[in-house]
Order: sequence, then structure tokens, then C-alpha cells
Amino acid sequence: MPATQHDQSVDAVADALLNKGHISEKTFPQEHFHIVPPVAPGSGTPAVAAATADGTAAAPALPLLFQPFTAKNLTLVNRVVVAPMCMYSSKDGFMTDYHLVHLGSFALHGAGLVLAEATAVEARGRISPGCAGIYKDDHIPGLKRVVDFVHSTGGKIGIQLAHAGRKASSQPFHTPEVFGPEEYWNDQVVGPSGGPDFQWDDKHRIPRELSVQEIQDVIKAFGAAAVRADKAGMDTVEIHGAHGYLIHNFLSPITNHRTDKYGGSLENRARFMLEVIDEVRKNFNPAKPIFLRLSASDCVEHLDITSFEINQAVQVSQWAKDAGVDVIHISSGGNTALQKVSYSPGYQVHYASRIRKDVPGLPVVSVGSITSGKQAEEILQNGDADLIAAARAFLKHPTFALDAGRELGVNVNYAPQYFAARYA
Ligand SMILES: Cc1cc2nc3c(=O)[nH]c(=O)nc-3n(C[C@H](O)[C@H](O)[C@H](O)COP(=O)(O)O)c2cc1C
Repeated sequence: MPATQHDQSVDAVADALLNKGHISEKTFPQEHFHIVPPVAPGSGTPAVAAATADGTAAAPALPLLFQPFTAKNLTLVNRVVVAPMCMYSSKDGFMTDYHLVHLGSFALHGAGLVLAEATAVEARGRISPGCAGIYKDDHIPGLKRVVDFVHSTGGKIGIQLAHAGRKASSQPFHTPEVFGPEEYWNDQVVGPSGGPDFQWDDKHRIPRELSVQEIQDVIKAFGAAAVRADKAGMDTVEIHGAHGYLIHNFLSPITNHRTDKYGGSLENRARFMLEVIDEVRKNFNPAKPIFLRLSASDCVEHLDITSFEINQAVQVSQWAKDAGVDVIHISSGGNTALQKVSYSPGYQVHYASRIRKDVPGLPVVSVGSITSGKQAEEILQNGDADLIAAARAFLKHPTFALDAGRELGVNVNYAPQYFAARYA
């Protein structure tokens, strides 16, 4: 059913319930329609006695990957994170049954934390018309439905708060024919700098430079999105500062040619990101942690051009920590077609390692071609990261976390419904 139709029917039933006095407000009626199973002991939890009473430490023999991790009031049963992945399966930003099954299955199969895809804080900040959004209160019930299911498995979930910047209003890479031309917003694509020189390629739009007032509006939109994420029950939010989207556009001198307080020096280029962090921190539940995803480099070291690179990323990570970021998620690239990235196993671990060493006290997630339990465990044992994220490995094997446990000899709990699989 298209999202709008669904909303109308939900609305009508909510009115009826309101009239009968069964509910006191209409805003989040979905719990009256969706039944989730009772909360189960976490799938992906080691079956051996692992955690101490306060959940912060574990038996020494347990591989690090299956030791709990705590940031603020969030404790993960293991250190396997599902990296955010755009699925181009929304309309007007609404999460659908697709997201419930897609994200829910990772939790059911033992991932410690599921990060939902880049979810736009403004409609024009979606990468494509099929991207998820959190730009209006009507989005909250659909998000909460996914959250409730993940929680029922004993899992945890966060959402990536995003603005696509100059890469907005592009076609979904699959099934572009689903969206008609009227569903794009080609003349409202924005960035720190505008004009044909800042167009990504001829499949993307020519961005327009944001005014200072508009920058303030986008910052406020991140704050409003954080409020909605909390209302939906998200355990954390991840601010998307990577992959050539708006925050990264500001950070990099390749895409930011401004001459006001948002451009020029590193301090000025980082100002937008730091103001976003500040606004999110002010608006998100103070007991819950905030993640930040950063591209640690524009990956153009082979060229003689000024870019955003690892030394600047270290400084920016320190500022982000000081501004209230609890966990940093280190990726790279995505801001220029001139980049050279070798997608070899663990190709981004060295960036994570450098930031973990140079910004003490800021836990780091490493991601990028990490495809086995042994590889993940080695990264943690080497002190290169605190958590491991994987994207494509989960698409291939939604059981990636449970498989990693088996590989490392951990007796991992399966969801009670899947109990029999432990002996297969
Ligand atoms: C289908 C797909 C969609 C993605 N969407 C996002 C996204 O929404 N946000 C983001 O930060 N990264 C996104 N990524 C990047 C992944 O999160 C991850 O950083 C990258 O795929 C490298 O990890 P991997 O080698 O484990 O796949 C996406 C990757 C894939 C394959």
C-alpha cells in the first residue's frame, strides 16, 4: 500500500480509538496495530557467562568481538555493527515493510548494533526520491515499528542522520524507473559552494550555494531529526559526515570555496559539522550516545591538490569529541571522482587506527572489506578499533555476526525461534 494510503487508514483508526478513549493522543498509534514478539535474550550474546553485572567487561577468554561495548546508556552485546546502507525503498521518506524485514533480520541474527541507512533531515537532502527521511513527524511511527522489532530481539538500533548536499536528487542505482521526473528536485540541490564547477558529474545536478541563513536552517533540521529519532526509540544517531555528502562537502577544500566563516581554514570548514553536532547533542536524549561517520581522507594523495586528509581528520575528530560525539565511525572517500581507493581487505583500518591512537578516549568503528570473524578480531586485538562494521558482508550473509562467533569458537546464542540452528 502506498505510504499516503496507509497513513490515511491509520489516521482513521486512530480517530476511532481516540473517540473511544482507548488512546489519549493520535501521534503514535502504531503500537495498536503491530504486534512484536516479547523481548528475547539477545541473539548474538555469548551463551557462556560473559558480562559482569554492570555489563562493561567480560570473561578474559572471550574474543574481543563478543565482549560487550558501552557508550553512555547504550550497551551492545557484541562489537559487530551493521553499517548503514541506502536501500532506495522508501517513498516520501517513509520506512516500509521492506525496512522492517531488512533491518529486523540483522538484529534477529545477532548483530550488536544495526545502523539504519542515510536518512534525510530535509526532503531535499535525500540522495534520491527512494531514500528514507526523518524530516516530518509522520515518519516517526514507521521508524518506531522497526525499532520495536529490533528491541524485541534484544538488539540495538541507530539511525544515520544525513543530508546529501550536492549529490541529492540523483537516481536510485536500481529501479530508477519507479520514480517519475516530478519526484526529483533538481533545482533545489545545495552545497557549500555552487555552480557548474561543483557538479559531481553529468548524472548529478548543479548545486546552488547555501546562504548563511539556509545553513542555520539545515542545522536546525538536524536537531529536529534528532528529536524524532529519540521519539522513535532509536538507541543512537549517527551523523553522516562522510562520502561526499553535505557535511563532507563543507569539510573538504575541494568542494568548499566559501570565503565566509564556513570556508577557508580547517576551523571554518569544520564549523558547519560542529554546529550540527552541537544541535543534535542539544536535541537528542542526553543519556544516549552520538556516533559521527567521517571520511578520513578525500583519497587524492596521488594528486597535487589541496584536499581533506588524515591529519585534518585527526584534528576534526578531536573537535567532534570535544563537542559531544561519543563514537567515531571511520570511512574514506566519496567527495571527488578523482579519488583513488584500493578496496583491499581492511583498506580503511589504518585510518581508524591513526584516529584511535591520536584521539584518546574516543571509541572508533572500523569499516571496509572486513569479511570474517578472524579478520575482525585481529583488528580489535591490534588496538586498531573498538568496534567493527560491515555492509556488504551482511547483504551476502545476514547471519554474519553469528557466523563470526562460530568461526571464533564462541558459543553464541541464537534467537529462541532459531534455537535449533545451533545444533545444525
Ligand atoms: C548498498 C550500499 C548502500 C550504502 N549506503 C550507505 C549509507 O546509507 N550511508 C553510509 O554512510 N554508507 C553507505 N554505504 C557504505 C557502507 O556503509 C560501507 O561503508 C561500505 O560498503 C564499506 O563496507 P563493506 O566493505 O563492509 O561493504 C553503503 C554501501 C552499500 C554496499
